[in-house]
Amino acid sequence: MSDVPWKGSAALSGAGYSAVELDAANERLFMLDQRRLPGEVQYLELGTVCAAAAAIRDMVVRGAPAIGISAAYGMVLAARDARALGAEAYLEAMRAAGETLRGTRPTAVNLAWAVRRSLVLAEQHAPERGEARWREQAELGRRLHREDVAACRAIGRIGAARLPDGATVLTHCNAGALATGGYGTALGVVRAAAEAGKRVRVLADETRPYLQGARLTAWELQRDGIEVTVVTDGMAGHCMSRGMVAAVVVGADRIARNGDTANKIGTYGVACLARHHGIPFYVAAPWSTVDLNAAAGSAIPIEERAAAEVTHLGGQRIVPEGVAAYHPAFDVTPAELVTAIFTERGEIRPPCDLRHPPWAERGPAT
Ligand code: MRU
Repeated sequence: MSDVPWKGSAALSGAGYSAVELDAANERLFMLDQRRLPGEVQYLELGTVCAAAAAIRDMVVRGAPAIGISAAYGMVLAARDARALGAEAYLEAMRAAGETLRGTRPTAVNLAWAVRRSLVLAEQHAPERGEARWREQAELGRRLHREDVAACRAIGRIGAARLPDGATVLTHCNAGALATGGYGTALGVVRAAAEAGKRVRVLADETRPYLQGARLTAWELQRDGIEVTVVTDGMAGHCMSRGMVAAVVVGADRIARNGDTANKIGTYGVACLARHHGIPFYVAAPWSTVDLNAAAGSAIPIEERAAAEVTHLGGQRIVPEGVAAYHPAFDVTPAELVTAIFTERGEIRPPCDLRHPPWAERGPAT
């Protein structure tokens, strides 16, 4: 799509669309409203950190790395609004903005990670009154964005090496360009395999509660000309039992240091089915999704979202009035069900301690 609404700066996503971009003046965020896909490609223009936080909470933008980048850009808007303040007041405003952003989606650790990076920078530059602090935050946001796209490409190369030619990959939810700075993690693996000349097909699920596979993964892959078939969540076991799945590749919202992985609700069930059928189950994620402070999956907070997202579909009630609904947005797949984790730094095979990854001789994990 060439009619992107931001002017004066190239999209950093590297695709014809972007989950989020900062305009050249560092004044506005443009977010592709993912709730409207596949029907409509519409960008929202956001001018304040509160608007950015609301957009993250309300799923305009989603996917752990994309949320992290959006938060870093949100901090740019906070720095702009605080540009006239003295050092103390500036830091106070930046910390408050960080809190607002952090509270929006608790499981995706990239959000807290990006806010932390912004606050470290804010502390370093607090005494420099005026435009400089705002500019520094914008540079950081763009750097995190570029680094995420580069990480996705590296993850893709590493993961693609594990996919045989002719593979059908089952993926759950959307871990594509829409969920990252661009290119995608799980879909990055698929893209890299296709770019390497392998024939690859995708079975996309997560048809409920949010239809991220049906709406978003299918939309992205169709644009790329990669063969994609949507299956509803209850069909994964059947497809595996019929020999239709060579590998499962999913993204992650947070990976504990033992390799336990939180991802979109339903991932755990897919992992159990993959183990039962002897199918490799791969997690693809940037290092910013690793939480070294979480010893195991039990330490990962699970976001609970509104029951209405379960009881209603497209604004229509589908559950009888008065019946309760439970909506955990994520589940945790134990490391023992994970065949390998692909990160931009390399591949890890659980059981593991991510504080000491196999490539640690090249430098300590941070
Ligand atoms: O609720 P969502 O849509 O933000 O959940 C997204 C996922 O679970 C993704 O698989 C995960 O964030 C990885 S995105 C590269």
